[in-house]
Amino acid sequence: MSVVEFLKPEGWLGENGGPRYVQLRQRLETGIKSGVLPPNSSLPPEREIAEITDLSRVTVRKAIQELVREGLIEQRQGSGSFIREATKRVEQSLRHLTSFTEDMASRGLDTTSQWLERGVFLATPAEVKVLGLLDGAEVARIYRLREAGGQPMALERATLPLEILPNPLEVKTSLYDVLDRLGHRPVNAVQKISAINLKTREADLLDVPEGAAGLSIERTSYLASGRVAELTRSLYRGDAYDFVAELRL
Ligand code: GLP
Repeated sequence: MSVVEFLKPEGWLGENGGPRYVQLRQRLETGIKSGVLPPNSSLPPEREIAEITDLSRVTVRKAIQELVREGLIEQRQGSGSFIREATKRVEQSLRHLTSFTEDMASRGLDTTSQWLERGVFLATPAEVKVLGLLDGAEVARIYRLREAGGQPMALERATLPLEILPNPLEVKTSLYDVLDRLGHRPVNAVQKISAINLKTREADLLDVPEGAAGLSIERTSYLASGRVAELTRSLYRGDAYDFVAELRL
């Protein structure tokens, strides 16, 4: 079916279907999901959609803006609106203390990282407190953009006491592999998950629109001795992750 036919209002646009921009947004979503509007294809211009649907341009613009916010449509300066490539969603279990590399490998995805920061730095007062350090102590810090199957997934900033990771430059791929080798792999952790909207720079790195939904996950992990091994804040793309918790009576 052609896009023009698909957008003809008969059959989906009605008096009782709620606000008209919502009806149009839903129609476009259906088009994207069913493949009438395939990834990377361009959306007809606002003016044309208004003509086909008999809706005002303001209504059409509002529907499109919502889809931009949801990350389904991308507006490219000077060349119009395009359907974004659908993101592969990844499920992560909340039961096991696994690494990013392991999580992705179990789904058959290869992990790559872009280094944003890696070195030894003076600990902030908050790090001193959480990591149980003395004032003025130094810490190993690692900040990475983590990708799986070539797609950006998360921004991850890990801070570790130097006792746990004396040389952050040793981490080439998996942090937990290095900790394993050093005999410092954490055995339990506490995670705090909260919803956020990604700021400009974070959104750019994760290749999503500014303000897109994300998940912030703070993991504090411990060695068997109870010593804090790692404090990591990760920002995950909201459209790429499902966190799954198993509950038992
Ligand atoms: C997860 C955790 C982080 C941990 C990382 C280690 O993403 N949220 O707290 O630092 O895994 O992953 P890797 O061993 O792949 O570097």
